[in-house]
Amino acid sequence: MDYKKIKIPHHVGIILDGNGRWAKERGMKRSSGHEAGFDNLVGLSKHMFNTGVKILSVYAFSTENFKRSKEEVNFLMNLFENKFKKYAEELKKENIKIVFSGGREKPVKEKLLKIIDECENITKDCTRGILNICFNYGSHSEIVQAIKKIHKDLEDNKIKEKDLNEDMVYHYMFQDLEPIDFLIRTSGELRLSNFMLYQLSYAELYFPKTYFPDFNNKEFDKALIEYTKRDRRFGGIDYSK
Ligand code: FPP
Repeated sequence: MDYKKIKIPHHVGIILDGNGRWAKERGMKRSSGHEAGFDNLVGLSKHMFNTGVKILSVYAFSTENFKRSKEEVNFLMNLFENKFKKYAEELKKENIKIVFSGGREKPVKEKLLKIIDECENITKDCTRGILNICFNYGSHSEIVQAIKKIHKDLEDNKIKEKDLNEDMVYHYMFQDLEPIDFLIRTSGELRLSNFMLYQLSYAELYFPKTYFPDFNNKEFDKALIEYTKRDRRFGGIDYSK
C-alpha cells in the first residue's frame, strides 16, 4: 500500500478485544487467546509505527478486569511479567518509547511494577514513537486523579484558575499525550469501556468484527483506508463543500 496517499492518524487507540472468543472458537483455553493476542500486538505495533503512527495507546488490562477468574488474572499477570521486558527491548531497537498509564496500587504486584519501571527506563530516550500501555487502567479514575492534582497545584499557587484550559488537562493525565485521532475496538463490540474518554472526544471510531489475534497488518491497512475516507470536522462545518 502507498502510505503517502492515505491519511495517517497521529495517535491511535486500540481496545484489544476478542482474545477469549478467538480461543473458544478453536477449542482452546482463553489463556491461549491472550498469548496469541500478545504475539499479534508485537508485530502489529511495529507495523503501525512504520506506517507513520506516532502514538499508540493499547488497553491491555482494565481495573475491572481484576474481577475475572483467579486463573485468568494470574495467567495474564504472568504473561505481562514474562513478556513486557523482551517487548521493551525489541521496541528500543525500533526507537519506540514505552510508557504506562494506570494505577499502581494493589492487587498489582511489586514485581510487575518493577518490570513496568524497567520498560519505561530502558526506552526513555527513544524518539520515533510512543507506545502507551494502559494497564490497571480506568478513564474515570484517571480523570479523578487529574482533578486532585489540579486542585493541589491551584492550592500551591503553581497554576492560576484563570489559566486552566482544556489543553492543560492533558498534562495532568497519567501520561501527557495528545488526543486520540482513531480508535479501533476489535471483535465487533460497540462500547468504549472506560477507555481514555477525555482523549477520545473527537476520535474517529472503528469497530471491525475481527478478533484481536487475527487483526493483522493487512486489517490495519484496511482500517487506515477507512480513516482516510472520514471527514473530520471537530464540530465545525466545511463550507467549501
Ligand atoms: C480482551 O479479550 C483482552 C484482554 C482483557 C487482555 C488483553 C491483553 C493482551 C492481548 C496482551 C496485551 C499486551 C500488551 C503488552 C499491551 P477478552 O478476554 O475480553 O476476549 P473475549 O471478549 O472474547 O472474552
